[in-house]
Amino acid sequence: MPMDEDEAQRLDRLHGVLRHILRRLYLAPVDPSSLHRVLDIGAGVGTWARDMALMLPQGADTQVFGVDLQTSWDEFLGDDLPSNCHLMYGDILRGLMFRDARFDFVHQRNLVRSIPSSKWSDVLREHVRLLKPGGWLELHEPDYSFSRKSMDPAPFADRLSAEIGRCCAITGVHLDMVSSLHLCLEEMGLVNVSYRRLDIPLGEWGGPTGDILKNIMSRDFEGFEASISRSLGPMAAFDFEDLIRGFWDECEQIKTCITLHIICAQKAPLPTPISPSTSHNERK
Ligand SMILES: C[S@@+](CC[C@H](N)C(=O)[O-])C[C@H]1O[C@@H](n2cnc3c(N)ncnc32)[C@H](O)[C@@H]1O
Repeated sequence: MPMDEDEAQRLDRLHGVLRHILRRLYLAPVDPSSLHRVLDIGAGVGTWARDMALMLPQGADTQVFGVDLQTSWDEFLGDDLPSNCHLMYGDILRGLMFRDARFDFVHQRNLVRSIPSSKWSDVLREHVRLLKPGGWLELHEPDYSFSRKSMDPAPFADRLSAEIGRCCAITGVHLDMVSSLHLCLEEMGLVNVSYRRLDIPLGEWGGPTGDILKNIMSRDFEGFEASISRSLGPMAAFDFEDLIRGFWDECEQIKTCITLHIICAQKAPLPTPISPSTSHNERK
């Protein structure tokens, strides 16, 4: 979706809702005082990187970097950026310009639609390259397969999920990848890998958060509608509008949720060197 004022506001509100739901900026078991260099990939308008920089102790040895393909941060954040936050151009699909093992923490949220499934292993390898030994990776990705609180059938949610999946597949993106990323990270030798699925209510039934999320997601769906009409023709887009209307009605009846996949993983710490006295004792 192009970064304009509306998209910037949408990402800003989404960040606010997610922060409210999670009650924190990240879930990995990391003490903030141990974080000196933090990276946010696909930083959007830079709100996560900004808030992280504000949360960490201020000082020259604590720096938060955000990279993205778009670079119009001045337009959206203005002067609202702490001095330890740096936003810059970077394309995760081409590899980032940082040296190996530069970061204590790498965060990536909501990029699934921009990463073709054939590229995920390169992307994960790039994350691992950037982490210091002992550093943490955290990924938050939706898969647009909707869950629900009731046992009733969900024809609109099922159809919407299938249409979104079809639309993404045109560019080689397979959204269901996100439920196996933790397994790829384990195979790559990361440790303390955790995976959880968080079902977030969509629609008025979910109270103020569900209502705000409905607004945010409506614009997201408009983006899909535009790509469907580009690839499949305007008739398909017309059907899509009906589908969205039915979907929002259905959300209220069957209490639909969107699922966020949250993965945390640690790059194996370097082995602690055995001190001469210990090794001597051990030999005894
Ligand atoms: C849906 S937004 C999410 C923004 C932010 N992570 C958040 O959760 O608020 C996706 C962002 O990823 C950026 N993006 C897409 N492909 C990228 C790539 N190959 N490298 C870096 N950023 C990318 C887009 O420009 C956009 O700002």
